[in-house]
Amino acid sequence: MQSLSSKNLLGIKELHRKDLELIFETADSFKEVINRPIKKVPSLRDITIANVFFENSTRTRLSFELAEKRLSADVINFSSSSSSVKKGETLLDTVNNILAMKVDMVVIRHPSPGAPHFLAKHVNANIVNAGDGTHEHPTQALLDSYSIREKHGALEGIKVAIIGDILHSRVALSNIFALQKLGSQVMVCGPNTLLPKYIRELGVQVELDIRKALEWCDVANVLRIQLERQKIKYFPSIREYTLYYGINKKLLDSLNKEITIMHPGPINRGVELSSDVADSEHAIIMDQVENGVAIRMAVLYLLAGDPQA
Ligand code: CP
Repeated sequence: MQSLSSKNLLGIKELHRKDLELIFETADSFKEVINRPIKKVPSLRDITIANVFFENSTRTRLSFELAEKRLSADVINFSSSSSSVKKGETLLDTVNNILAMKVDMVVIRHPSPGAPHFLAKHVNANIVNAGDGTHEHPTQALLDSYSIREKHGALEGIKVAIIGDILHSRVALSNIFALQKLGSQVMVCGPNTLLPKYIRELGVQVELDIRKALEWCDVANVLRIQLERQKIKYFPSIREYTLYYGINKKLLDSLNKEITIMHPGPINRGVELSSDVADSEHAIIMDQVENGVAIRMAVLYLLAGDPQA
């Protein structure tokens, strides 16, 4: 069995192109499995996985849980809001107590950048980053790239514009790393105040004018304005953001070209995307969600090695 170059999935930055290609090939097989009447395989029987979430999540948590169950793993779910973290227990104590129950893998979402990397240094279990603060969201970037590959047949040479709140986005950083490793061209677009100062050092194109970004790209990956991470105002009002950076049907129709529209969710409908765009035939937002299960199955399967061997 082929394996990844690391026993953990902490970020896309640490992965090689061949790791990404192996994940995609494995996800192709699992996508076929989850479209069968019997959607379950015994690949991770006898493996126990803990989903440890210190932040809210709909898609990522459910998608990991479903991926684990489709692979026949035993699954436990931890949510910090209803846990002894509220009584002052540390992250490491919490995870060590979970591991003492004979857990093999930990999927962690945490508001602090680097929390999964810290755990990986201190525990023996496989660690999977399900989003660490504003740092990385590797499985989101994998499912995004996989969805572009599925829609356009390849990633090499495809022009992807990542639009919106780049400053607070772990999705943006992981997507930039993944797309560049896979040969796509990447542009970021948003108001200057929502673009990190270091962004040009990553080798991406930068565009402040949304029309120019849309005229350039094949794919627009539109990000949510993350008001919960904004302690100061980065633009005068939501209404003005929508006026200058919101994508609506009228704007897309005026381009005289077809663009694939993506969004990692959750969408602020009527802010970064109008409903007639989010629900249009050009949007692959639900394909992204569907592909997330196959991608996470592939990641968990490859990290676990071959427990059935
Ligand atoms: N895309 C994403 O991470 O969504 P959730 O926050 O709902 O998991």
